[in-house]
Amino acid sequence: MTRLKFQSLTAILIAAAIFLAATASSQTPSTISHPPLEPPPYWAYAVDPPASAAEAGAKPDDSASLHISGTKISFTRSQVHDFFNIPDWHPSAHPPMPQIVAHGRPPEVYACGYCHLPNGQGRPENSSLAGLPATYIVQQLADFKSGARKSSDPDLKPVSSMIANETKITGAEIQIAAAYFAALKPKPWIRVVEAKFVPKTHVAGWMLVVSTPHEVESIGDRIIEIPENLERTELRDDSSGFIAYVPPGSLKRGHALVTTGGANARTIICSTCHGPNLKGLKDVPSIAGRSPSYIVRQLYDMQSGARAGASGQQMKPVVANLSLFDIIDIAAYISSLSP
Ligand code: HEC
Ligand code: HEC
Repeated sequence: MTRLKFQSLTAILIAAAIFLAATASSQTPSTISHPPLEPPPYWAYAVDPPASAAEAGAKPDDSASLHISGTKISFTRSQVHDFFNIPDWHPSAHPPMPQIVAHGRPPEVYACGYCHLPNGQGRPENSSLAGLPATYIVQQLADFKSGARKSSDPDLKPVSSMIANETKITGAEIQIAAAYFAALKPKPWIRVVEAKFVPKTHVAGWMLVVSTPHEVESIGDRIIEIPENLERTELRDDSSGFIAYVPPGSLKRGHALVTTGGANARTIICSTCHGPNLKGLKDVPSIAGRSPSYIVRQLYDMQSGARAGASGQQMKPVVANLSLFDIIDIAAYISSLSP
């Protein structure tokens, strides 16, 4: 998937949105038929531009000790990016991390808490793990390992690293990590806001960030999930969450799809399996209040067949008839729920 393709896709989507707004203002996007599968949307599959040779070879500037407000703890730049000794800004806000979560197992297995954060809240480019059923966590690691779960975009390095490095963990380590994350209580982490216009963004660090100089553009058919505070997110502060701009009307349309299955029974009522308020039921994971970028990727990956583990088969009829517009609406709505 080339950068150019992403850009032209965005241009097409924006043009299509303007065209739709101009010609069919009474028609909601969900009622228009679409080709079954569009290319993976760049804003959910945020692929970093290649680093220049100078950037790739540059040593981090460690002269400064970095701080965030509300704690006396400080780290250097290298410490913030240590895959085997992760920066923990709020050690008293979560139970003690097991070795595998805080330090991983060098040289291959990175610390789980580096990407998923010490409190398991996760970031748009990975996944929240806090409160997921332990059995579900174990099963997903097995699916990553067997190849049953991949990404629709092979260029998405966070996922390929999850697969290449993290599936080297032993059965005992899996149990320990799963028990740790399952016991964490998920907290509100993403503020979902309907908006016609959004800040102009670009991909940096495998997520969307606001571009400078600040400009606004039409949201089009996208979800724009960005850090509430870029500096804190870049320091891997697990107390600073995200804001997700979603298209106007998406929350209402998403609510209808999730609670009724939509017109022509396009999908299946989610609470049947994901439980009341979508907070999970037995081994079926919670989907409420989780990253909309992540949710879009999962629904898309299930539709494309990239995610096809045995228990995921139950999701096949759920996603089979959804358009990308439907997926956006559903992700917007379920992300706005309390986790
Ligand atoms: C390099 C970053 C990184 C590290 C380190 C990492 N993960 Fe992940 N993890 C990811 C990404 C990226 C995804 C999948 C996102 C997607 O599918 O779009 C993921 C997904 C998962 C999922 C699936 C969650 C769900 O809701 O289905 C589980 C479970 C998981 N990781 C467990 C772990 C464990 C346990 C460790 C430590 C041994 C770990 N991860 C370390 C990046 C990471
Ligand atoms: C028939 C049961 C069933 C129904 C109905 C159902 N799901 Fe699921 N869903 C599952 C199961 C089981 C999984 C776990 C799949 C796996 O193990 O890979 C899952 C996983 C998911 C995931 C991935 C979660 C994660 O942590 O990665 C998302 C997102 C999801 N479902 C969304 C939905 C939505 C939205 C609806 C309603 C429109 C829905 N599901 C309806 C059974 C169901």
